[in-house]
Amino acid sequence: MAKAIEIRPLARDDDRSGFSCGQRDLDRFFEHYAGQNQFKLHLAVTYVAVVDERIVGFATVAASSIERARVPSARLRKRLPTYPLPVLRLARLGVDTRAQGHGVGSALLRHVLALAVEQRDLFGCVAVVTDAKPQSVSFYRSLGFVPLEDVREGLLHGEPLPMLLPVAAIASAVP
Ligand SMILES: CC(C)(COP(=O)(O)OP(=O)(O)OC[C@H]1O[C@@H](n2cnc3c(N)ncnc32)[C@H](O)[C@@H]1OP(=O)(O)O)[C@@H](O)C(=O)NCCC(=O)NCCS
Repeated sequence: MAKAIEIRPLARDDDRSGFSCGQRDLDRFFEHYAGQNQFKLHLAVTYVAVVDERIVGFATVAASSIERARVPSARLRKRLPTYPLPVLRLARLGVDTRAQGHGVGSALLRHVLALAVEQRDLFGCVAVVTDAKPQSVSFYRSLGFVPLEDVREGLLHGEPLPMLLPVAAIASAVP
């Protein structure tokens, strides 16, 4: 897909019905909950990737916090205070099956990382965190995400793996 990918916030009148990333829970979230979470409950904001006026991917983010004890790097932990640390949570990420493998996921990720830098500069942000589905762990690892401190490898029954990318590592995360 050499076509331009536009990334913008979800709009109220976006048609979300035909989207499928191959994960039913993500598709259901996008179609039924992304709008109300953003426009009514103000829990999160969803950004959509648009190609030729069609939504081909989405990423949902929310301001969040984590305890210092969960920060994976001992060096970083030592420099941080004990109260909850501000982070940007990548709550959901999905690319339509017809568009996968063409850079849409990494374009959305780049956008999310840029938002984390903006959050850092506006109100503080030490990292981006996400709960990676087992089949996406290597996708996040390749970008520099590492598992949080209190989780072990080999999670059972397809449980998601909580992962973190320090905001200081963002410059080198996505070329
Ligand atoms: C995971 C997902 C978001 C990736 O989006 P995408 O548009 O297909 O990814 P891209 O084309 O931007 O690929 C970026 C890089 O990641 C790699 N990659 C993509 N999916 C991967 C996966 N599941 N595991 C490992 N690497 C992966 C690509 O090979 C590419 O590497 P390259 O730059 O060296 O070629 C997409 O496949 C998807 O929606 N999957 C189903 C839903 C899902 O698992 N969401 C994540 C929830 S945690």
